[in-house]
Amino acid sequence: MQASWRSEPGGRVSGTLTVPGDKSVSHRSLMLGGVAEGLTRVQGFLESEDCLATLRALEAMGVGIERQGSGAIVVRGRGLSGLSQPAHSLDMGNAGTAIRLFTGLLCGQRFSSELFGDASLMKRPMERVARPLSDMGAMVHTTDGRPPVTVEGGRLLRGIQHHLEVASAQVKSAILLAGLYAEGETTVLEPAVTRDHTERMLRAFGVRVESSDLRVRLWPGPLTGCDLTVPGDFSSAAFFIVAALLAGEGPVEIRAVGVNPTRTGLLDILRLMGARIEVCNQRRYGDEPVADLHVYPGPLNGIDVPVGLVPLAIDEFPVLFVAAAAARGVTRVTGAAELRVKESDRIGVMAEGLRALGVRAEPSADGMLVEGGDLQGGVIDSHGDHRIAMSFAVAGLVSHQPIQIDDTNNVATSFPGFLDLARTCGFRLAPA
Ligand code: S3P
Repeated sequence: MQASWRSEPGGRVSGTLTVPGDKSVSHRSLMLGGVAEGLTRVQGFLESEDCLATLRALEAMGVGIERQGSGAIVVRGRGLSGLSQPAHSLDMGNAGTAIRLFTGLLCGQRFSSELFGDASLMKRPMERVARPLSDMGAMVHTTDGRPPVTVEGGRLLRGIQHHLEVASAQVKSAILLAGLYAEGETTVLEPAVTRDHTERMLRAFGVRVESSDLRVRLWPGPLTGCDLTVPGDFSSAAFFIVAALLAGEGPVEIRAVGVNPTRTGLLDILRLMGARIEVCNQRRYGDEPVADLHVYPGPLNGIDVPVGLVPLAIDEFPVLFVAAAAARGVTRVTGAAELRVKESDRIGVMAEGLRALGVRAEPSADGMLVEGGDLQGGVIDSHGDHRIAMSFAVAGLVSHQPIQIDDTNNVATSFPGFLDLARTCGFRLAPA
């Protein structure tokens, strides 16, 4: 049964908190660990529905994975060619990262496989990965451009130089993972900077990867198992960053958050809106930078969001639209057409939700205009999108009447425990 939440106005956010592990890094730790030689030990793994879909798929292909509790995982790698044919189609659930990256990884196997997912995943574009992989010599069949996807194994792959049409870390990563199995070097040229967790982690596993000026080059070679610690997910921290700005009782500290610069565009955008956020105690978990964030409550002003920051904040737009609705003046987002093909159409669904709360929100093909002002109460359909649900929970902190948020089960795909953590630090949020 689908759960609903009620977010009541008047909550004040305070304290020190930590958020669960990074979803992108967690998926990659299992996939690379699974095809590495030897053991990979992961700490801080995100035990969410999305990452568990990746875990189950690898188990179905013969990878031994031990869950030791509290995000500690041991992966017994089987080497690049050691995966075995799964007995059934692989269910990726709601996870776009899982289906895109597995499509690349499975191109290099000797067996064929089929990938599918939930109703949302079955609508997501897959030709963007199928096309470059076919150029490498792979056989990938989509269903009218979408899942289910079948990958025929046993093909010889060749390294290519590929210009990405959209700024997508998932497409880049799928090509790089196939490149591990290709003859010769693989090069991906990006139209804009996208998250680089795959490149960083491949290096940690001993693969030669060079990146500079929007160009990534990979040379095929074996992976050696390693120890990894997953940073807190910046995209999960984002809800508490905006909550603290809008309804902080004082500074809020969020500890051990990943601050890879390909992920932190939201900080730059919020600072342009007038936010004070300090990045303290910077350190590294392996190849990934981590810091404690200190967020000071204060008013925000509407801005024109610089297009160059869009890919660096791509998952944060739902909560950014809420910040814009609570800001003084108008915020304009352009160059963000990718939002239309995420877990939901995040432009359409956010516009519908904000309008239900009495906010002026004018969607366009690639963005939205939001006029800041008062938020009323209302009923929101999250369309099964985890980040939409959590964003409207934040909106409830500053709305005049309660907000009911429907279809919230998928919050467990990225942020199990969100409801409890939000309540602990001052949200007036409860199951409806
Ligand atoms: C992700 C890349 C992004 C992001 C998604 C996770 C990843 O997608 O929106 O939530 O782990 O590589 P795109 O690469 O499609 O932009």
